[in-house]
Amino acid sequence: MTSKPFRPGMVGLLRETAPRERRVALTPSDVKRLMGRMNICVEESAGTAAGFVDQAYAEAGAQLSGRAEILSTCDILLSVQPPEVIEELPRRSTLISLGGRDADLNRRLRERDITHLGLERLPRTSRAQAMDVLSSQATIAGYAAVMEGARVLDILLPMLTTAAGVIKPARMIALGGGVAGLQAIATARRLGAITHGFDVREAAREQIESLGAKFVFPEIALESTEGFGGYAREQSDDQQLRLRRALAAELTTMDLIITSAQIPGRAAPLLIDKETVVGLRKGSVIVDLAVESGGNCALTKANDIVDVGGVHILGPTNLSSLFATDASRLFSGNIRALLEYLLDKEDRFRLDASDPITRALLAEQVAPNTSTPTIGAEA
Ligand code: NAI
Repeated sequence: MTSKPFRPGMVGLLRETAPRERRVALTPSDVKRLMGRMNICVEESAGTAAGFVDQAYAEAGAQLSGRAEILSTCDILLSVQPPEVIEELPRRSTLISLGGRDADLNRRLRERDITHLGLERLPRTSRAQAMDVLSSQATIAGYAAVMEGARVLDILLPMLTTAAGVIKPARMIALGGGVAGLQAIATARRLGAITHGFDVREAAREQIESLGAKFVFPEIALESTEGFGGYAREQSDDQQLRLRRALAAELTTMDLIITSAQIPGRAAPLLIDKETVVGLRKGSVIVDLAVESGGNCALTKANDIVDVGGVHILGPTNLSSLFATDASRLFSGNIRALLEYLLDKEDRFRLDASDPITRALLAEQVAPNTSTPTIGAEA
């Protein structure tokens, strides 16, 4: 691998091509902050779906162009989702986008000698926190999950005292107390629900309780499930079964259940089986955020609402895109931090494989026995 600096001719911001993707990777205000240090070219309409019009990018100092021109002039390409047609990307360019855990995408990019900084591969360290798109987007998703669940729920979240009578507050639980789960708890609590949280990591207890939620920890002997890098360790089948049965009793008292239990690179743990769903209160709602890795509920269907005897199970994907303006603001802040991180003192990009963050972003991307492709003009 090389750590030679290179000065890109141009950084290109692409319009998203993935279905239902409304976010944009850089906002006009972040373009403005970066313009002194690099040249940015924005594809026409790139930010429109997220509420950022072309004129705002032009006023921020960016050059606006058609897609073909961007692809032929830019060395570094930015997008939220990887472009649908990889073959249109120029050989030996650098792509910064999601898709870092997609083995097939990795292979196709390698075939074109494209260096991919796959954003999911960022380590969850304090140094990389400002660039962590998974965290920023999971924050939006946790909020959005409560909004979606509340829309389908047949009761209100807050307590209401009216002349016509008193309405009890809804009971909500987050299964998984990571970034998304914690934001779901915070949102449901602000809306007046009685909140609960569960996670197999003991360390999550303090965070759940600090939000004013009750930590639910079923009375079963779980071996330590603390993994490395801030993530949980996978449990055995037997542990999972015992956990499910113990949790089922807690869940029968809940109205809104938001699940986001996940261990990266693994199928999502099954926390709610059919038997549990059948025992839930009629009218209650499950929002399963882990749907893309198989779901925490056995009956979840992606982008669908399943009705099991009056219990509704939602399996929304890409929830952050629903709130595209703010989701893009956070995503863009992460990308700006990353671009700034990759610049050296002379404002040249440097992909230094001895740097832990850069190495993690490049991991899996660099084929065995090959060196990092030389990108752009050598400085
Ligand atoms: P995270 O890694 O911060 O949190 C996952 C949590 O699950 C961790 O606290 C972990 O300890 C916990 N966990 C693991 N196994 C468990 C088990 N058996 N029981 C209970 N808890 C368990 O992840 P983050 O960022 O909060 O994302 C959570 C999930 O939400 C991921 O699957 C992610 O892909 C998904 N997500 C879905 C979106 C959507 O639109 N559907 C958008 C953003 C995230």
